[in-house]
Parts: sequence; C-alpha cells; structure tokens
Amino acid sequence: MKKNIRSVIDILDLSKREVEELMDTADAIEADPAAFSEVCKHKQLATLFFEPSTRTRLSFESAMLSLGGSVLGFSSANSSSAAKGESVSDTIEVVSNYADIIAMRHPREGAAFVASQHSNVPVINAGDGGHFHPTQTLADLLCIRRKKGKLDGLTIGICGDLKYGRTVHSLIDAMQRYEGTRYVLISPKELRLPAYMTDKLRAEGADFEEKLELESAIPELDVLYMTRIQKERFEDEAEYQRLKDSYVLTIDKLEHAKKDLCIMHPLPRVNEISVKVDEDERACYFYETYCGKQMRMALIMKLLGLSGAAPLCEEEHKAEKAPAKIYEGIGECPNNACISKTEQELPARFELVDEKEHIYRCIYCDALVKLES
Ligand code: CP
Repeated sequence: MKKNIRSVIDILDLSKREVEELMDTADAIEADPAAFSEVCKHKQLATLFFEPSTRTRLSFESAMLSLGGSVLGFSSANSSSAAKGESVSDTIEVVSNYADIIAMRHPREGAAFVASQHSNVPVINAGDGGHFHPTQTLADLLCIRRKKGKLDGLTIGICGDLKYGRTVHSLIDAMQRYEGTRYVLISPKELRLPAYMTDKLRAEGADFEEKLELESAIPELDVLYMTRIQKERFEDEAEYQRLKDSYVLTIDKLEHAKKDLCIMHPLPRVNEISVKVDEDERACYFYETYCGKQMRMALIMKLLGLSGAAPLCEEEHKAEKAPAKIYEGIGECPNNACISKTEQELPARFELVDEKEHIYRCIYCDALVKLES
C-alpha cells in the first residue's frame, strides 16, 4: 500500500465544493486559455487505456498539452504488457515512476481503485467497466450548469443502459448533492439501475421513477441523458441483439419537449439519437465534449496542486466519506466483471451494508452480496 496520494476514482472522491471550484476553473480557462498555457510545464500525464476511447483519452491528452505539459501512454491493452499477463498493480508500480499523474481506463470494475492503491502519483479513473466514469460526470455537470444556469431543481431523464452505464452511475451520485433533483429512469427491465444504486437512492429519499417507455416521459424533462446499449458489457450476445434498439430519439419524439430541454449523451452513439436531432438547438452532446477538456484541465491542475486551482481540501473530503471497516475472507464478489476476479492475489474485500440481512458491498465494484461472516 502506497502513501496517501489523492486520486479520483469515484465522483464522490471530490466534495461538492471542490466540483464547483473545478467548474469555476473551467470557466476561467474558457475566458483566458493563454493564462493556463504553462501551468503544467515539465509535468507528465500517462494515459493508460486498456479499453477503446476517443473523447476521454484525447481530451485528457489535449488538456495536458494545453497546460504546457507532456503525455505518454498506450491506447489499447494489446500494446502494453497486459497482453503478456501483467497485472494492473504491477503496471501502476512501474508507470508511477515515469509520470506525475495517471488517467486510466480499464474494462474491469474496480481496476482504477486497485491502481490508486499502488501508485505514488494521483490516479484518475477514466472509466472502469460498467462502474464509474467521474470525469465524464465533470463534463456533464459543466454542460448542465452552462446550459441551464443551475444544477438545483432539475428533472433529469436518463435513458438506455442504466445497468452497465458507468456515466449514469457517476452522474446520479453527483446530482444527488443538488436540491430538488428528480430522476426519470428509462430502461428495459434487464438494464435497470443496479441494486446498489437504487438502494442508495431510496435510503437518501431521492425522487425517482423507473419507466420502460421514453416518449411519455419527455414533456416533463429539463435534461434528457441518452446512453448507448453497450455491446461490450453483455455476457450474452443474444440479449444484446434483443435490446440494442430499445430507444431511438427522433425529432418527432421531441414535439412536446420543453423549449429549453438539454439533450445529452456521453457518446459514442450508435443509433440511439437520430443525426437529424443534431440540428436541433437543444442537442448538447457535442458541447459536452468541449466541456470535458476544460474540466480535465481543471482536475489535472487540482490534483497536481498547481496554480490556477484551489488547494485540495482533504479534511472536508474525509468528512464526507468516512472510511468503513473492511471484511476479508468471507466470500467472493458475485460480479464477474470485478477486478477481484482477475488481479493476482487480490482477495475479495467487503464493507457491511446491512448487519441484520448480512448484506455486504464489494469495495472494488460496489456489487451487493448476502454473506455469512
Ligand atoms: N464518453 C466517453 O467516455 O467516450 P470515449 O469512450 O470515446 O472516451
């Protein structure tokens, strides 16, 4: 285990105040990019992408270059020693000797958390399987704040793959911090939000409704967040084929939508938003990618403690997310995509959720499991 380095694995690793400071920094970058052009001079960002990406990897690299730093890394597992069987922890032990900060994407849920435990430099989760994608959420929050002028009191429709949609999980966690958020969760029953998320929403008294159908939900929405049905997450190809065309947003479905609806999508899209919608002024998904670079610039500066960003407020962070007791040797994680299934000698570890019902949460992927301890 390494020294206490601040990483961002989950959007909740940043306090609400820190997220708002990042948005303010992003606005300052937009107003005067030249003022930030040498902030990261002599600093290096490693982008370790074990899974495909266009936006996240390139926006991280563009962000670091625009801050005057440099980048190194790989864009597929096949071009790294992961292809020879090297573990995530060994890879990070090595790369944290070469770079000042790491952005990592991996298909295994909890991989970025494991990386952070073996790193001497900050690790940013650029997507871990179907689990979390905190920097997409930073882009989403900035996009909503700029387009709607606020983050409180919004009704957000989230449509598509809510089970494996890592951007969805991080966005909901972030929006839970704002007053009056209402969620309309639209998905086939097979792709509903995972139990660990719905249990948390219920426990927090969130205002949410689950629906199968998109069109009837649209008129009440301030934000419509469409997502792709992700072929790469399905264990059963036949189930993907059956569900892949569940939702397609077309211009005619927007007839009764609010005039200032914000239509979002983390991208890439396949066919879930008709290209004709791109011409509608409510389409914000390409603007989201523009916001992503500025938020990643702000986050890199913050984690490196460099000028232009407020210092880390570690105490506030700890107060919001107190460490829990960890249980080991009591069972296996039920999630086949969990990093504990593949990483060498990594024991399954859990936090207790419900003592009476013996419900535990995997500390890597958040899957809930009933175990006798
Ligand atoms: N939104 C997002 O994560 O896109 P990429 O997969 O292209 O990085």
